[in-house]
Amino acid sequence: MLNVALPKGRIGEKVYSMFEAAGLECPSIRENNRKLIFENPEVGVRYFWVKPSDVAIYVERGAADIGVAGKDILLEYEPDIYELYDLNIGKCRMAVAAKEDFRDNPQKTLKVATKFTNIAQNYYTSLGRDIDIIHLNGSIELAPILGLSDVIVDIVETGTTLRENHLTVVESIVPISARLIANKASFKFKNEAIASIVKKLSEIKEGMSEN
Ligand code: PRP
Repeated sequence: MLNVALPKGRIGEKVYSMFEAAGLECPSIRENNRKLIFENPEVGVRYFWVKPSDVAIYVERGAADIGVAGKDILLEYEPDIYELYDLNIGKCRMAVAAKEDFRDNPQKTLKVATKFTNIAQNYYTSLGRDIDIIHLNGSIELAPILGLSDVIVDIVETGTTLRENHLTVVESIVPISARLIANKASFKFKNEAIASIVKKLSEIKEGMSEN
């Protein structure tokens, strides 16, 4: 049985459709209920719906053999897993944003509000810039508006949230998308099954880009 951690929500449904097209169907998952585990013994797969930011934990610790996690989570938590494949969905970017009239003073410590403290720290360390990190859990855009921070480091997808709050991207840090990840031991012991999924998913992706 291959254990697969899917991120709950819109991306997860897309991911399941790709797995279904790859032959790992589990029809009961489409029933609208609050169950979290679904399995299809005939094809040897068991799916779990997991909070997107927790997928890498399940995979790292072997509760799931494979899963799908955003590159943001992988960069932030640096889990000890294999990153196998870029599914090319859930695309967005990690960026620095600030109020439209923000002018940086490089002599001053920069106050940075973010959920992604590791990504922000690594980025500013690479620039040799001193920062003061303010860790927030959501509504990050409020921080510069209320003077809590100079800038934010956050995910930008359409840019709507920034625009509607009169913020603007100052610098892009890294592009983000959903990645197929594997537990290291599972990759060794269930290699045939996992390799076959990667192959089928890449065929599906090629088919998608041709259409
Ligand atoms: C993310 C991010 C921004 C928003 C950007 O939040 O934190 O607030 O999406 O998207 P946009 O550029 O399309 O407006 P998310 O909805 O993931 O929820 P969160 O507040 O829990 O981070």
